[in-house]
Amino acid sequence: MAEAEGIHVDVEALKGMIEEKYNNDPENVIMILQDVSARYNYLPEETLYVVCKELGIPISLVYSVATFYKAFSLEPRGKYIINVCLGTACHVRGAEKIKETLEQRLNIHEGETSEDLKFTLDTVRCLGCCALGPVITVNEKAHGGLDRAKALKVIGEYEKAA
Ligand code: FES
Repeated sequence: MAEAEGIHVDVEALKGMIEEKYNNDPENVIMILQDVSARYNYLPEETLYVVCKELGIPISLVYSVATFYKAFSLEPRGKYIINVCLGTACHVRGAEKIKETLEQRLNIHEGETSEDLKFTLDTVRCLGCCALGPVITVNEKAHGGLDRAKALKVIGEYEKAA
């Protein structure tokens, strides 16, 4: 597992957080990993060893929690997580073309993260707002009524803000 270039893990801050906020209590392992994930957008390998040492639990346990929950990633993730809906309603309105356009624009494929760690591209099967299709979400925000040009515009705006 490769650490992302440019990501520096602040080990002392992590130790302090585990002690002060979570009292070094192994019961809090999920919440600790959530905090780590919120900070780095993924779980850098180094942090898992710090968590296991500070909580006095086996690394296998930390890994099993980290891999069980879909919200956690052991690979670097972008600042912005794009989900392209490929559900039926979006599919018939050209969602596949939007996905391809974003893959070309960001130079990544589904499931991958851009080199600059700005974007991760994923797909979902329905976001529950079919009338807006085709839809993508960027982090939690939905963008509907897209065509290729509009999708590129949306991504351009996030890129500027990153
Ligand atoms: S199919 Fe895309 S939101 Fe439902």
